[in-house]
Amino acid sequence: MRITTHAGVRAALSSPHLEVPPAAPADDTGGMRWLRATVARFSTGRAHRRRRRLATDALADIDAATLGRGAGARAGEILAGAGDRPLDLMSRIALPVPAQLLARALGMPGDVTGAVLAAAPAYHPRSEITPVADEAVAALIRAAGGVADERTAARIGLLMQAAEATAGLVAHAVLALGHQPSAASTPAVLAETLRYDPPVRLTRRRATGPVRCGHLDLAAGTEVEVDLAAANRDGAVFDHPGRFDPGRAGADRHVTFGAGPRSCPGAAHARALAGGIVDVLRTRRLEVDTVRYGAAANLRVPASLMVRIR
Ligand code: HEM
Repeated sequence: MRITTHAGVRAALSSPHLEVPPAAPADDTGGMRWLRATVARFSTGRAHRRRRRLATDALADIDAATLGRGAGARAGEILAGAGDRPLDLMSRIALPVPAQLLARALGMPGDVTGAVLAAAPAYHPRSEITPVADEAVAALIRAAGGVADERTAARIGLLMQAAEATAGLVAHAVLALGHQPSAASTPAVLAETLRYDPPVRLTRRRATGPVRCGHLDLAAGTEVEVDLAAANRDGAVFDHPGRFDPGRAGADRHVTFGAGPRSCPGAAHARALAGGIVDVLRTRRLEVDTVRYGAAANLRVPASLMVRIR
């Protein structure tokens, strides 16, 4: 069952009778199963509130604007070093730069970018856990101080949540501007990109008891797909929803960062990181050569995006 209207999606995400399907209990300490079972994202009830607080406390110590400036500076260095050779925007900039900046801001010493990007594809409970992902989580725990507790899980969880989604936002802004150049400000381009081509397409909820959600009567235990991308194209909320229109009125009504008590606490940081990078990319003329998507369950993020820089 899938919820696709803007009103239905907001109602589902705010309903106390629909919960995130929890991750399986951990059968390890310090691997990917442990991480899934210990972060806010896949927890419910009091554990969710406690763990979300750990994540929001960690984010409160990180100034988003500083993060964005750092991301822009790093992206500029990488572009300068690349000369006019073709460059994979994903593996060189969009994936590693936000991960590196955020890990540094979270106080994780050394370069943990490789570990973040090795673990992230296995973070979602519907994806396969590989030995590489388990080892990457172990490396991240060591970088976070070596104690496998909820505070450590919260910091690693922030890196998992941030990495691919933020990279997808950068990529989709570049692709959209490639098809349709725009003089709109970068924040306006990003707001419309989040609405028009969201990197996080859907999320899931399960009914804790019989519940009416919009037009749907759900029996206890029913799992629903909450279709964020479809809600962002709801003609009842957005005029000409299929048109990429940076600067449109009300673009920020998109639901790409979710809604309700579990909405994305990293939205400002995601915008700042992506904004810093996109600002720098917009100072150069980029030509997109090829784009290839991976097969993630709920994400739409290019695996590679080859560009030429003029
Ligand atoms: C464009 C980038 C991003 C998008 C589209 C995005 C989207 C989302 C969405 C839709 C949710 C809610 C899922 C649900 O309700 O089922 C979420 C949760 C979350 N996001 Fe983001 N996110 C992004 C970047 C980030 C960043 C940069 C951070 C951290 C710095 C972050 C941290 C989190 C955390 C910790 C949660 C779990 C919150 C909870 O369960 O209470 N996200 N994100």
